[in-house]
Amino acid sequence: MTDSALPTPTAAATPLDAERISADFPILQVGPNTGKRLAFLDSAASAMKPRAVIDSIVRTYESGYANVHRGVYALAATATDNMEGAREKVRTLLNASSPREIVFTRGTTEAINLVANSWGRANLGPGDIVVTTELEHHSNLVPWQQLCRAVGAELRFIPVDDDGVLDVSGLEALAAGGTLKLVTVVHASNSLGSVTPLDVVVPWAKSHGALVLVDGAQSVPHRVVDVQALGIDFLAFSGHKVMGPSGVGVLWGREELLAAMPPWQFGGEMIRRVQYDEATWNDLPWKFEAGTPAIAEIIALGAALDYVESIGGLAAINAHEHAMTSYGHELLLGVPGLRVLGPAQGEERGGVLSFTLEGTHPHDIATMLDQLDVNVRAGHHCTQPLMKRLGINATARASVYAYTTREDLDRLVDGLVEVRRVFRLP
Ligand SMILES: Cc1ncc(COP(=O)(O)O)c(C=O)c1O
Repeated sequence: MTDSALPTPTAAATPLDAERISADFPILQVGPNTGKRLAFLDSAASAMKPRAVIDSIVRTYESGYANVHRGVYALAATATDNMEGAREKVRTLLNASSPREIVFTRGTTEAINLVANSWGRANLGPGDIVVTTELEHHSNLVPWQQLCRAVGAELRFIPVDDDGVLDVSGLEALAAGGTLKLVTVVHASNSLGSVTPLDVVVPWAKSHGALVLVDGAQSVPHRVVDVQALGIDFLAFSGHKVMGPSGVGVLWGREELLAAMPPWQFGGEMIRRVQYDEATWNDLPWKFEAGTPAIAEIIALGAALDYVESIGGLAAINAHEHAMTSYGHELLLGVPGLRVLGPAQGEERGGVLSFTLEGTHPHDIATMLDQLDVNVRAGHHCTQPLMKRLGINATARASVYAYTTREDLDRLVDGLVEVRRVFRLP
């Protein structure tokens, strides 16, 4: 990761004017319960969409829509140009060497399944080891668990400590007794905000000749992620978490790897020549994009990336989130009976504050906060094994983004004081 500024102890002024930015988001203007501005603190699940993204979708359907790559008429050419233009924007975002390395998928989940089913089935077998972490979202756990079971490979885990922070002190033991082929890790945990030290994990994987896949669902929207600087092989992220539409995501892979991988899904778009008894494959990246893509959504993802740039870019967003997370963390620690999980204050963390409040269930917290138009998530956050490891069933989770203000976090803590009052907590 190229942006490693640590959180500051109080919310200093940040280069982003979140108040002004939030005005770009129609849905944030009025909460359904109080009529006040919505304090939306669930962007880790899915980010809200600025007017620029909504307008892009409308524009495509009103004046730039047709199926892509096939038509000879002007509208088809416009839609194709706009979609391929979005691919170039993603290439720039990730500093990938070529648009051939950018494969559009439905999201992070599908991108990881693509690698598991294509590269994994072709390259893994008995005696091979895949290493992941105890932090993973089910999306970067279950595909590997199922694949390893099917091909006879072994899945091993980088452990977390009791706060949910990765312990990378024993990496070498994880490669013993087999061939380490893949290290597949979350960049920033959606559950706890813990950040994987890629500067340790990637060189270790490479020293064994293993490939590295990074689940960037919670990092690409929030910090500068340069795939070449990181020295990784695959990266997955979802458009909807970076203020783009749902239904579109990205797999980035090194070109020589993608070129050698077999297609995973078959049908239109991904072929070059088809006969009744055989077929050959299209060039990258279309070899991995079977069927009609999410045309308007992909174009709108490009609009979301333009929007990110227009408000100051990912480094500025990251600095703002550090300030907001640090401010929120400090406030939460002042609430009696509240435990914040994940990295300690002052340590690097993604824009996520996961907590429990003694004497209440996270679902009750989220439901009561909703009455005040403060939206947080409650549950296992698609990390059931991690919750079990930490000895809990669920947490409440507040997550921040470019449009998060101090007032949103003040309202969260005021709401928690109210929860304590209603539950008559000591
Ligand atoms: C860390 C992480 N990985 C993967 C995913 C799955 O993303 P999607 O549901 O968009 O495929 C998420 C979504 O919350 C996530 O936070």
